[in-house]
Amino acid sequence: MTPRRVFRALAVAEAITWVCLLAGMFVKYVVDASEVGVQVAGPVHGTVFIAYCLATVVVGVDQRWTSGRLVLGLVSAVPPLMTVWFDRHVEARGGLDDTWHSRPDSPNGSQRAVAWLIGHRRQALAGFVVAVAALTGLALLVGPPVG
Ligand code: HEM
Repeated sequence: MTPRRVFRALAVAEAITWVCLLAGMFVKYVVDASEVGVQVAGPVHGTVFIAYCLATVVVGVDQRWTSGRLVLGLVSAVPPLMTVWFDRHVEARGGLDDTWHSRPDSPNGSQRAVAWLIGHRRQALAGFVVAVAALTGLALLVGPPVG
């Protein structure tokens, strides 16, 4: 998986789950029929939201995004569909490559950490799944921000 593919997959997944959540809200509030859509789409969206945020940090560090761009990428997960806009925005500015840039001898500690992840893909994937599950569980314990 290249940085471009990882980021795009999660940006699109985040947007799709937002659309599902909006559809669930339409059924819940406008049609006034059922809450099931929101009850299903809510946690799915929350999980993908967390996965998108983690991937944004890893890809942003690797692709040498400025901190402003990184923050914009994270904030894009809040309004519906903005992750797709952000993906195009960064792509148009040459901020998404098919090559990982981080190296074990990179000058910056976060880039060295990303280099380790790139060099240990299985462990990185397992760690990613565990981190998403743990953060999702924590968020569910604390309570969803909306609803
Ligand atoms: C900025 C990020 C997020 C936004 C903008 C957001 C937005 C929403 C919205 C609009 C709803 C529908 C509420 C309703 O009208 O009933 C919802 C539901 C829900 N969200 Fe989120 N959410 C976010 C993050 C999360 C996270 C991180 C989690 C936890 C993993 C989460 C879990 C849920 C759950 C469980 C529901 C369903 C609540 C129910 O059963 O009524 N959300 N969210």
